[in-house]
Amino acid sequence: MQINNNKAKITETDLEKIKSVLPQYYTRKRLSHTLSVEKECTELAKIYDFSEEDTLRLRAAALLHDITKKWSDEEQIAYCQKHDIPYTEEDTYMTKVFHSRTGAHLARCLFPELVDDGIYDAILFHTTAKPAMPLATALLYLADYIEPERTFVDCVKLRTEFYTLLEQKDKYKALYETLVRSFGYTVSSLVEEGSLIHVDIILARNYYLLKLNKE
Ligand SMILES: [Fe+2]
Ligand SMILES: [Fe+2]
Repeated sequence: MQINNNKAKITETDLEKIKSVLPQYYTRKRLSHTLSVEKECTELAKIYDFSEEDTLRLRAAALLHDITKKWSDEEQIAYCQKHDIPYTEEDTYMTKVFHSRTGAHLARCLFPELVDDGIYDAILFHTTAKPAMPLATALLYLADYIEPERTFVDCVKLRTEFYTLLEQKDKYKALYETLVRSFGYTVSSLVEEGSLIHVDIILARNYYLLKLNKE
């Protein structure tokens, strides 16, 4: 996979071009979620003072983030094998993480001129997050969790908590605290289900918890 360190210059026309291919990859419900993530990303980009150029890049990542979500586990694994995308045996017990990896790869194959490294990273870590995320990666992760069409109780709760924290605190502290809370909710529900926990979630929680305590 080629490296594309230069920031892509994305226009509204590019976003329309991306949107035109989405119906073949998304179910109707997933498409609606995706457009809602895009809208939430636009709001978050405003709050975090993104330039117009970076806002367009974040919106592109939002539109593409679940592009392989409807594939079966077998299709996800077969795609990883075909394209040398690394995964561990443990990952095969946490199949939700696969669509981030295959999604980042497919997004770049479909739109190599648009999916720069920042957009690739945001898609790649939108499920687990990771320590020291670029702001765009953190905001896509958060938007995916709290977009208003989410009805899962933890998502609704986190949305309210984030916007309440924003009124009370510095916006970066509000973000870090919200991230830590989201990791806590995810870990608790995975423990309750008896599921494995991806190590990136634990590393991300430790990183942001320490960051909050140090500041
Ligand atoms: Fe996803
Ligand atoms: Fe999503």
